[in-house]
Amino acid sequence: MRTIVAGNWKMNLEAASAARLLDDLGTWSVQRTTEVEMIVAPPFPFLSMAVDQARRARGMTVAAQNCHYEESGAFTGEVGVPMLKSLGVGACIVGHSERREFFGETDVLIGRKILLLLQHGLTPIYCCGEKREDREAGRHREVVAQQIKGALAMVPATGTAQIVVAYEPVWAIGTGLTATPAQAQEMHAFIRHELKQFAGPAAQDIPILYGGSCKPDNARGLFVGADINGGLIGGAALQAGPFRELIEIAEEVKCPH
Ligand code: PGA
Repeated sequence: MRTIVAGNWKMNLEAASAARLLDDLGTWSVQRTTEVEMIVAPPFPFLSMAVDQARRARGMTVAAQNCHYEESGAFTGEVGVPMLKSLGVGACIVGHSERREFFGETDVLIGRKILLLLQHGLTPIYCCGEKREDREAGRHREVVAQQIKGALAMVPATGTAQIVVAYEPVWAIGTGLTATPAQAQEMHAFIRHELKQFAGPAAQDIPILYGGSCKPDNARGLFVGADINGGLIGGAALQAGPFRELIEIAEEVKCPH
């Protein structure tokens, strides 16, 4: 099973600070083993710089944070999957709760993005997760099952087998609240079970990352979960130190020598 630690920078950093962070991660990567895959997802303006750095690094993939569901055309301000591919970007986050909440993205629209990414050979990192009120009402499983079904219904099983999923309870994102290891493992196992409907037995090998205030001080407990295959990290991915530490923790927990 793959283990992945991905950094979602969101709308943070500027050219100089982005270059410094990439440079630090790239330099560090050449001395490490690459059992844990590192993914960096900077904002669009820094993707090119990130791809250059990844070419010199080891085990580093660059992801975009978003893409459009059409290949190209009159969509002012949008970025197309073929553009990302032509730069050397290997993956793309889709369905992040911030895109669902602030940009009105629906499961169907997210499903179209997933299809297009797969057609172009990029890995979709599909985010799902319930809101606080869903959890409090005991609807968290139902909500996440619906998100998975809504986005993957039109994706062929062979395509679904290629995706990476991130379980990100919305109440834990950027809040300092984290799902307990037991809550996270329970949801990851549930997600894997749901994925079987769409990917068949290959669901066993789909990496499912945990996201939501995952930091070096709580990562170990989360990463030990049998169905937790790494993390999608926001705040703690903006500095090289904590991000490297998270990768090292994942390595210790998932790939003991
Ligand atoms: P956070 O963000 O680690 O800052 O909570 C995670 C995410 O939104 O991907």
